[in-house]
Amino acid sequence: MTERKGIILAGGTGSRLHPITMGVSKQLLPVYDKPMIYYPLSVLMLAGIKEIAVITNPEYMQQFQRLLGDGSNWGLSLTYIEQPSPDGLAQAYLLAEDFLNGSASAMVLGDNVFYGHGFKSLLREASSQAVGGTVFGYRVSDPERYGVVSYDETGKARHIEEKPENPKSNYAVTGLYFLDNKASERARYIEPSARGELEITSLLSAYLEEDQLNVQRMGRGYAWLDTGTFGSLLDAGNFVRTLQARQGLQVGCPEEIAFENGWITRDDLLAAGKNAEKNDYGKYLIRLAEMVAR
Ligand code: G1P
Repeated sequence: MTERKGIILAGGTGSRLHPITMGVSKQLLPVYDKPMIYYPLSVLMLAGIKEIAVITNPEYMQQFQRLLGDGSNWGLSLTYIEQPSPDGLAQAYLLAEDFLNGSASAMVLGDNVFYGHGFKSLLREASSQAVGGTVFGYRVSDPERYGVVSYDETGKARHIEEKPENPKSNYAVTGLYFLDNKASERARYIEPSARGELEITSLLSAYLEEDQLNVQRMGRGYAWLDTGTFGSLLDAGNFVRTLQARQGLQVGCPEEIAFENGWITRDDLLAAGKNAEKNDYGKYLIRLAEMVAR
């Protein structure tokens, strides 16, 4: 089996956050001390994925490239793919077909922030499943805003519906999708929904119907945060700030994960820290490097 590749979908127009997203892509907005995309990127890195495509609106591609480059600073290989028009999340699998080149994938939405104890094992387990897919069901108070999974009496996932008016459960499907190497092919057979989009839920339903989808519950000990409204964006920033201030540990720090994964050296970490040595982010990286014996 070839290695699983990653996709970060950072397209869309961000219209729900106008005017803040009129001049900048939503996924580049700050969530406290980091650009939003650092958080989903960290998720893929925690899963052990090095080869990653970033799908963006053509207008903003350069901004992402300026920020992330070719990924080599973090031991990654980043590819950029244009999303000419935002036609739904499942479109990503069509756009990334050449990039995936027959590999399984993990796709994460560029505006999803996750945090929780044991997350790395959860990710590594999902990633090790070669056939079918794994997605995560997370309890929310407002399921109608998301893809919603319904379960039968035995607790088995039965249906996934996109933004149902009358949700059959409180479990939303998070924006993190581990799918096998059939995703692009399957995406070709999806019909656009009533709102004209290739829905990710249609793709997931195709897997579910064939009993190929594991809908894993992500328990209440995890935080899956929304960044889609002014309030929730600020809340996500405050959440990160609160944790970091209390623990003295960073949430979603790509340099730290790259170092822990053995993808960059202590000197690389130190150099990254020196780039931002006047602030707490840079000081954190320098401290990490200094804790490791030469
Ligand atoms: C999308 C998906 C939805 C999923 C959500 C997670 O919705 O269509 O199924 O639950 O992301 O963030 P959107 O945020 O694009 O409305």
